[in-house]
Amino acid sequence: MHLTLRQLKVFETVARHLNYTRAARELFLTQPAVSMQVRQLEEALGVPLFEQLGKRIHLTEAGREALTYARAIHLQLDELETVLNHLKGLSGGRLRLSVASTANYFIPALLGEYSRRYPQVTISLEVTNRETLLRQLAENTVDLVIMGQPPDGLDVEAHAFMENRLVIVATPNHPLAREKRIPLTRLQDTVFLVREPGSGTRSAMERFFSEHGVRIKTGMEAGSNEAIKQGVQAGLGLGLLSRATIDQELTLKRLVVLDIRDLPIIRHWYVVHRRGKRLSAAAQAFKIFILKETHTATRDMQRSQGKSAKSRRH
Ligand code: PGA
Repeated sequence: MHLTLRQLKVFETVARHLNYTRAARELFLTQPAVSMQVRQLEEALGVPLFEQLGKRIHLTEAGREALTYARAIHLQLDELETVLNHLKGLSGGRLRLSVASTANYFIPALLGEYSRRYPQVTISLEVTNRETLLRQLAENTVDLVIMGQPPDGLDVEAHAFMENRLVIVATPNHPLAREKRIPLTRLQDTVFLVREPGSGTRSAMERFFSEHGVRIKTGMEAGSNEAIKQGVQAGLGLGLLSRATIDQELTLKRLVVLDIRDLPIIRHWYVVHRRGKRLSAAAQAFKIFILKETHTATRDMQRSQGKSAKSRRH
């Protein structure tokens, strides 16, 4: 079958207008040129596509079939063009991502998968605390930010993609380690190790205790989750941390999560950018990727656990 995409395009236009003159006008062709293209297509297919009844032309049955396929072929070509443009935009592209220090416990695994999918993209990852993330968003120096709780007072687009549970951890030999359903009041005047000012975990912790009217004692202040975990293991006090940061310590039985009523604090992770920002193809692809991947993972997790948690935002 020797036909051309051009012939299909001309045929589709004539079929839409059921009029050669109007089709010719739309295609910037002469009317004889349009008729010739249609005739050549009819010859290639071996069937008439139009019939003349009085002054008007109509599609034949074969013409209606051919129209369905001509449209499908053009849709496929449009789709191919979109996909190729996307790929071209991604090759040599760069993703500038800034994440809260706590998010860095799960982001590298996601970046690994993203990078396998889009190997042409160069990734630059900065790991910092919430305060710096807010400044980077305000100064527009980053494509995407991963943070807990989107900023107030800044026009951003923020999509929640995963739960972030904050729990209280202690050493396995701590007196509270074996107790169940511990009331929060038992923590009154207990020493806690706290993250640095500017940390999202720290502000969520402060809000939580003040809302529940519990006063804690601040022990060591540390600039990272790792330092808090080390301090707790060394017996310097309790720690309130994201559950995402303590997988290894729980497996190795170096830390335990205390069973406290009103906990965990349930927050969420958000992928955030300034509203109206023209995201690069690489950044756009990452945003779609993270929303889709984590949605699937969360759904699978909930299915296997058969339950969903009570929600408490901080
Ligand atoms: P961070 O985490 O404590 O590492 O700043 C951010 C957040 O939980 O909001």
